[in-house]
Amino acid sequence: MSKPRVYVTRKLPEEAMELIEANCNMEVNPHDRAMTGRELEVAIQGVDGFLCLLTDTIDSKLLDLNPELKVLANYAVGYDNIDVKACTEKGIPVSNTPGVLTDTTADLAFTLIMSIARRVVEADKFTRMGKYEGWGPMLLLGNDIYQKKIGIIGMGRIGQAVARRAVGGFDMDVMYYDINRNKEVEEELGLKYKSFEELLAKSDFISIHVPLNQYTEKLIGEDEFEMMKDSAYIINTSRGAIIDETALLQALRENKIAGAGLDVYEDEPKLTPGLANINNLVLLPHLGSATVETRTKMAVMAAKNLLAGLKGDRMPNIVNPEVFYR
Ligand code: DGY
Repeated sequence: MSKPRVYVTRKLPEEAMELIEANCNMEVNPHDRAMTGRELEVAIQGVDGFLCLLTDTIDSKLLDLNPELKVLANYAVGYDNIDVKACTEKGIPVSNTPGVLTDTTADLAFTLIMSIARRVVEADKFTRMGKYEGWGPMLLLGNDIYQKKIGIIGMGRIGQAVARRAVGGFDMDVMYYDINRNKEVEEELGLKYKSFEELLAKSDFISIHVPLNQYTEKLIGEDEFEMMKDSAYIINTSRGAIIDETALLQALRENKIAGAGLDVYEDEPKLTPGLANINNLVLLPHLGSATVETRTKMAVMAAKNLLAGLKGDRMPNIVNPEVFYR
C-alpha cells in the first residue's frame, strides 16, 4: 500500500519530521518563512494530510482546492487561523496542540509582567549605551509585582498556570474573569471571581488568556482602557486581535495605563504604526511557546495527530469531534 501524501507548511523540530517521513510521503515548505496564500493553494492540492501553522489561513476557499483532504493538524494550541466550521462541513478532522505549551506560555506572561514593571528592556538599553554612571536612588524605578492585584481574563490551562505562579511565586491577590466559573480552581488557589468590569477596574496587572473568536475580538478597547487604573499594566500572550491596538496606543500615549507587554499583534507580524515608539511597552515576536523543549513536544504532538487522522483513527487532540456525527 502506498504511503499517504502530506504537506508540512514549515520545517519543524527533527523528531517530528522523522516521525512523519517514516510513515508518509512528505513534502515540506522549502523556505524559512511562512507560506504565501498562493503557495498554500498549490501545496494543499492532492495531499491526504496537511500540517499547518498559526500563520497559515485555512479557509473554505483553500479547502475547496482539495476535496480529498483527510486531515488537518495545526501546530499550535490556538486554531483561529482555521475555519473549523468549514472543515467540519467538509468532513475534515482538525487537531491542535493543547497542554504541552501551558507552562512555557505562562512563564512568558510572567517574563512580560516582570520586564515591563521593572523596566528591564529600558534598563538594558540604558546600560549598553554607556549611560550608567553609578547607583542612583531614583534611577529607573519600576513597580513591585509581589502582593499586587492581578486580574486574569480566561481561566483555562494557561490562565491557571499564570494564577499558580502569581499565588505561589509572587504572593499576589488573584482575580479572574471567565465565561465559565471554575470553583474548584478558585478554592484550590484562593482566586476571586469578578465581573469583567470589576477585574478591569481593580487590577494592577491584567493578563489575557482567552482564545480569539467572535466574542473575544477587540474585547479590550477604548472603553475598557478607560475602566483601568492609570497604574495598571496589561499583558497579552494570547492573540493580538483581542486588544484593539489603536485604542492601546492611545491609552499608552495618554497615560491612561502605566504600560503593556505584548507577545501578539492585531495584524501579525505588522505593528500598528506608532506602537514601536512607545517606551512603556515591551514587544516580543510571538514567543509564548518558543523553547526547544516545548516546540519539540508540540511538533511531535502535531505529527501524531496527523498520523492518527491519516489512519482513520480519532486524532488524540481533535477540536471538531462533531465531524464524526454529521
Ligand atoms: C499557540 O500554540 O497557539 C501559540 O500561540 C504558539 O506559540
